[in-house]
Amino acid sequence: MYPTTVEFGSLDEIHETALGVLPGDVADFLEGGAGGETTLLRNRQALSRWAVVPEPMSGVALPDTGTTLLDIPLSAPLLAAPFGGDTLFHPDGHRAVMRASAAFGVVDIAPEAGSFSYADLRATAPAAARMAQLHPFAGAVDVAGRIADAGYEALCVTVDCPVGGFRTRNMRNRFSPDLTPFCGNTPVSAGDAPRVAEVMGQLMSGGGAAWTWDDLTHAARRFRLPWIAKGVLTPAAALRAMDAGATGVVVSNHGGRQVDPAPSSLAVLPAIRAAVGPDVPVVVDSGFRTGADVFVALALGADAVILGRAIVYGLAAGGEAGVTRVLELVTEELRVLMTLAGAADLRAVTSDRVVEILR
Ligand SMILES: Cc1cc2nc3c(=O)[nH]c(=O)nc-3n(C[C@H](O)[C@H](O)[C@H](O)COP(=O)(O)O)c2cc1C
Repeated sequence: MYPTTVEFGSLDEIHETALGVLPGDVADFLEGGAGGETTLLRNRQALSRWAVVPEPMSGVALPDTGTTLLDIPLSAPLLAAPFGGDTLFHPDGHRAVMRASAAFGVVDIAPEAGSFSYADLRATAPAAARMAQLHPFAGAVDVAGRIADAGYEALCVTVDCPVGGFRTRNMRNRFSPDLTPFCGNTPVSAGDAPRVAEVMGQLMSGGGAAWTWDDLTHAARRFRLPWIAKGVLTPAAALRAMDAGATGVVVSNHGGRQVDPAPSSLAVLPAIRAAVGPDVPVVVDSGFRTGADVFVALALGADAVILGRAIVYGLAAGGEAGVTRVLELVTEELRVLMTLAGAADLRAVTSDRVVEILR
């Protein structure tokens, strides 16, 4: 069922292979968005409006794709998304993503609602396991403490998921997998049951944790690690996150899985960058698949891009090797475009290297 020898030529091929091995309802859980899937579509449409400006005869030969984010060195401006339900896609789940990310020199954000504990993932590949995701509600300070104890260096706090989005495909499919395997960080015991229900409620709809920025501000004072807020779509929310103590933000509509209709992440990215200023780490996700997408994101103000479904396609299609291939393809395309656009390093990927095509 799971191919082990893979030398995929393109992301499309990886995507097709993934859809070929996944059961239909799991594929829908992965591919689907909320509501009418307007946000999902808009994420891709927004990217298609931008073009890279070629720079003939620039003299750039071997551009440098390396960068640092929160003092973490990255071989490419990429992170693997925290995604729950990881072993639905491949039995190795995030362990495979961790290993591939470590070997490639990027970071996999360990998810709260995955099959493996933070400590397990850190032990699997310490080089990649440097950031971990959590949900901001009851018990978050304890969870953040466990993340710090496990040796992570930064937290990624998901602020756009007080309740799972209105996921139409899952509802049509009556999708209700056994959630116990995805409680790697929420052990099922009598005392933990409420938290398990809450965390999984985030993913599968239901849940409903009424935390405010003030609650998060309060909790964050007890975090021992720097944190970034994942899921802001307005300058006001980004600034509120910074007020709450965040070191940076992730501009994200959760891959179209939460608010629908919502703006694409790309459309709001420049205004958020302008609001927080040049020095605050700004990461973006939702709809990014290719090296060209990453180039446009960097040109419009992002420091790095989180890949969600693209990574899961690689995982489903070929486990660790599949994820590695996705990272290779995206990075190689980015490198080629940097050469063709005359950008010797990521600092040179500036807004004048892209142009919006209005028709
Ligand atoms: C199957 C799946 C599960 C996800 N689970 C979580 C989660 O538990 N917590 C979270 O913050 N984001 C979660 N996300 C959102 C991703 O972290 C990321 O924001 C999104 O996938 C980016 O969009 P893209 O898939 O278009 O790249 C999930 C995404 C997918 C596809």
